[in-house]
Amino acid sequence: MDQRFCNESADPANIVIFGATGDLTMRKLMPALVRMVDCGLMHPQSRIIGVVRDMSSAAWLQLVRDGLAEFSPEVGMDEDRWQAFSALLKMVPGDLEDETTYTRLAESLEQLGDSKNAMFYCAIPPKWYRIAARGLNKAGLTAQDEGYRRLVIEKPFGMDLDSARELSRELQSVIDESQIYRIDHYLGKESVQNLLVYRFANSIMEPLWNRNYIDHIQISVSETLGIEYRAKYYENAGALRDMIQSHLMQMMTLVAMEPPVEFTAHAVRDEKMKVLRAVRRFEPQTVSAQVVAAQYAAGRIDGEDTLAYVREDGVAPDSATETFAAVRFQIDNWRWQGVPFILWSGKRMEKKVSEVMIRFRKPPFNLFDTHASAPAANALVFRLQPDAGVVLRMNAKQPGLTTDIQRLVMRAPYADDDAEVADAYEILMHDVLTGDGTLFSRSDEVEESWEIVEPILQAWKDRFSIGRYRAGTWDIPAMDTLTRDCVGGWHTPS
Ligand code: BG6
Repeated sequence: MDQRFCNESADPANIVIFGATGDLTMRKLMPALVRMVDCGLMHPQSRIIGVVRDMSSAAWLQLVRDGLAEFSPEVGMDEDRWQAFSALLKMVPGDLEDETTYTRLAESLEQLGDSKNAMFYCAIPPKWYRIAARGLNKAGLTAQDEGYRRLVIEKPFGMDLDSARELSRELQSVIDESQIYRIDHYLGKESVQNLLVYRFANSIMEPLWNRNYIDHIQISVSETLGIEYRAKYYENAGALRDMIQSHLMQMMTLVAMEPPVEFTAHAVRDEKMKVLRAVRRFEPQTVSAQVVAAQYAAGRIDGEDTLAYVREDGVAPDSATETFAAVRFQIDNWRWQGVPFILWSGKRMEKKVSEVMIRFRKPPFNLFDTHASAPAANALVFRLQPDAGVVLRMNAKQPGLTTDIQRLVMRAPYADDDAEVADAYEILMHDVLTGDGTLFSRSDEVEESWEIVEPILQAWKDRFSIGRYRAGTWDIPAMDTLTRDCVGGWHTPS
């Protein structure tokens, strides 16, 4: 067994997928499951059970096979591999709203017999989570008498504070919080986990990691894609809900948290939670100065013309939904007092890059009588994707007889080109199977982050117009205002 990616192998389990014909299953879950089988992250006696409506078992298997060929050709699913993988697949027919689906599922799990452990993956729209959880509960499938029972759900966990609280309440009325695994796929990315290792496995970081040396921090996810086929969801979400409240605030907690006493789910999540509790709350009158929202206009990306957001399929022509959002957070504690955390994310930007940039203070005094530029403030950039790695921007002497200063860029890639990096879904599903909740969001974290952004949502409630940026550019002047007092200003990825 190849234990490349893990220290612990999982016990046999039944992996039940609700939404087994959907996009998430085809694009992410099935390819990840194939790779988990390949590298021994899944016990050979485990089974994958798809709950499917109105389809024969043969048709579902064909759909899975076609999906693997279309979305993960690199898996190389020849006949032998397909025979081996498809032997693990079983279909249970049924509708999520029909109680008999869950009793049929319980019978199937009983017949499979190999294991009492089950992970129920809700690859379905959020409005179905509570229905699936209730159905499982009624059929006795949430009780952990003999094996474990774990429920996996994906963001969005609510669309605001009230709906997030209601969702938690409803789920917790039928299944214990410790059995719920809320996936934020950013936490499954190796490069994001690596932030913790850089911070807590290198003694040179800790002395610098505070308000005495750091001017500000920018955490960003810029994308070149538009909203694709997701107008229905995105029109109600926007970049603040879709990215900032979830992925980016989660990353902020990893960057800002204190060292946990141990690397366990509770200890790590307790520290993340303390960061969220220290985030200064926005007042309705301060929102406009701390937050930027904008929407993409038509433009050109990678040599292709792209449509304005309001011309995308399913988007209202007068939509004021933001496709770019930036929020300037303050963390009121000893370590971070006065250090702005600027989180921003946008679609249809010039480049697809996710980064954490730590900008240090300027050197206090320029010792060198230089004709060229003065020393710049150092920056440490954690490139999360693509080309994961670390970049340190330093000042150095220019070769020659002067003391003129040049900028030096030191790059350290995270992995060699041919090193295999595990996909977020492999890591996260393996963690569910081994019961490690460290990389999953707890309900208190989710609610606290909604509470933080709630005043922004309120301030935007009646928004009827929004500034535009040309697709394929960084042309958002309000970002210069937001970062006016930050050394180096708005950092767009190079
Ligand atoms: C998802 C958002 O959670 O993350 C999408 O809903 C976004 O809008 C995606 O495109 C970005 O993920 P990644 O892994 O491609 O950076």
